[in-house]
Parts: sequence; structure tokens; C-alpha cells
Amino acid sequence: MRHFIIVGILVIVMAILTYVGLDVAGIATQMHPIAASLQSVSIDWLWNREIIAISFLFALIIVPMTYSLIVFRRRKGETGDGEHFEGNTTLEITWTVLPLFAVLAFAYMGAYSLGEINRVDPDALVIKVKAQQFTWTFEYPEYEIVSKELHLPVDQQVVLKMESGDVIHSFWVPEFRVKQDVVPGRVTEYRITPTLVGDYKVRCAELCGASHYSMENLVIVNTQADYDAWIAEQRAIAAASQTPEGRGQLLTVKNGCIGCHSVDGSKLVGPSWQGIDGSTRDFADGTSAIADDAYIIESIRNPQAREVTGFSPSSMPPYTLTDEEIANIIAYIKTLK
Ligand code: CUA
Repeated sequence: MRHFIIVGILVIVMAILTYVGLDVAGIATQMHPIAASLQSVSIDWLWNREIIAISFLFALIIVPMTYSLIVFRRRKGETGDGEHFEGNTTLEITWTVLPLFAVLAFAYMGAYSLGEINRVDPDALVIKVKAQQFTWTFEYPEYEIVSKELHLPVDQQVVLKMESGDVIHSFWVPEFRVKQDVVPGRVTEYRITPTLVGDYKVRCAELCGASHYSMENLVIVNTQADYDAWIAEQRAIAAASQTPEGRGQLLTVKNGCIGCHSVDGSKLVGPSWQGIDGSTRDFADGTSAIADDAYIIESIRNPQAREVTGFSPSSMPPYTLTDEEIANIIAYIKTLK
């Protein structure tokens, strides 16, 4: 009996030390990014319960094992075998029933959290999300706005209706906790209620190709006033886009072009468009050409035709756009001096 009491106390002490140790090391809570959504509350709560259970189970295995190794070790002069036991029904019932209740309790807590996370607000703001190699595009159907940045009003549920243009991607904002795959041929939903104003990033959490690592866009949680101002500003930009250049710019956002091509000279996956019109392009096979309209059309419809030195044309899929759309895009590219 004495051994049971000592081991019992040691298990409790070890469990507490393990939990505190994990907490100090940051594994239990501090390694989490800041919680910025209503949904993260129940996920973090469940996570913390699991860390407590893990700390206890760790102690329950390590302490009796170490205690037995030390206290019941073979001492000098002992040569016989240990005592032989033929089973213990009480113990077997205990270690079957207790874990059963523990698992049931966690199943209940898991189902409860899932219910909280999926709670539907009928007034949720609908935003369409398009994922494609290697960028995200956000469309606000109510306002006819298309953006590369996802702006969300604080304390309001949004439902993202997500589609993929090519392969499987995964929408993940660590601060929101919830993660959802985007699957070709399907519309997947992602509900979130941001609770903390700030700048975050959506990352793609599904290996989707060579530039998977760079598939991240800004997610900005605004106050209602800032959000309204942003919407008004975007609508003004959309209204101004009645010119070919403006329509072309909108097309480059909508088709995800600017995920790989910068407009300010910086190097991304593909060549920057700044100053590209009329410039001399050097190719990997040693030839070169002037970037005229025909060259830009070829680069959009058949990117693999020629390989610009320093870039891999296989990063870009061929785009099927109408002649008019391409003319608008060229008009826009010509403005990028
Ligand atoms: Cu998209 Cu990884």
C-alpha cells in the first residue's frame, strides 16, 4: 500500500511539472500565434485540455516505471526469480473503464468545440475565394470588387466560398486556427469571425507545386469604419477601370498574374512587368527578341515557347484569354514604365 501512495503522489507531482514545463517551453500555449478569431477560443480550450491529459499520461507511464526500476531492483546477494502473478481482475477492469470514460469525455468536448466552430450566422458576409498556383484572389460579390488582399470587418462572421483553378490548396490563417482545403471541382466553405484588428497572412497549407511556399496573401482585419472606407476605395478603383488599361489591371488581379509578376521591378516567380514593353528579352538558348505585342501574346498563351534567362517557364500554365482581354492586359503592361 505504501508503494501505491508514494507512486500516486509522484504521478501527480510529475504531471504538474510536465504541464508547467510544456507551458514554460511554450508548447502548451505560448507557441501558438495570437488568437484572432471567435473560433480559436474553443480550439485553444480543447488543445489545453489535451495537453493536461498528455501530461498526466506521461507521468502515469514514466513514474511507476522509474519507481519500479529503482525500488524493486535486484539487490546484492539476490539470486532467485521475482514473484509470479497470475493476473488482477480489479486492475484490468479499472484500466478499461477509466480510459473509456476519458475517451468519451474527449469525444464530447471535441464534438462540442466542432459545433461552436461551425456555428452558422445567417447574416454572415459572403466572400468568394479563388486559389490557384500560386496566389489567392478574393471577390466581394456584393460590391463587385476583386482584390489580392482579404479585408474583413472585425466581430462579424464571414463565410468564404472557396474554389480552386487547378490543384488542391489549403486556406490557413494560423491566428484564426481553422484550416480548410480548396479542392478542384467543388466549393468548400470556411467560416470565421475575426475578433482582433490587425494584419495577418493566409498561407497555403497543401503542397501544390514548385512555388507553394510563396502562396501567401495579406489578410487584414479592419474596424467597421476602416472596412467601409476600403470598400468605398475599391469601388472607386473598379469604377475607374472602364478604360482598357483599367480593365487590363483588373484582369491581372482576377487571373492571379500578379502573384508571380511584380509591377515594380522586384523579382518574383516570373519576370517583373515594369519596363518590359519594348525591352530586349534574352533567352536560355542564346537568342533574344524585343518584347512587342506578339511576344506578350505568345508568353500568355504558350509560356513554354521560349525560356527567359533566369526563369523557369514551367512555373506558368498557359492562359486561355480572349483577344480583347489580352489587348487590355497589354494596354495595362504598357503603362508600367
Ligand atoms: Cu497552394 Cu500550396
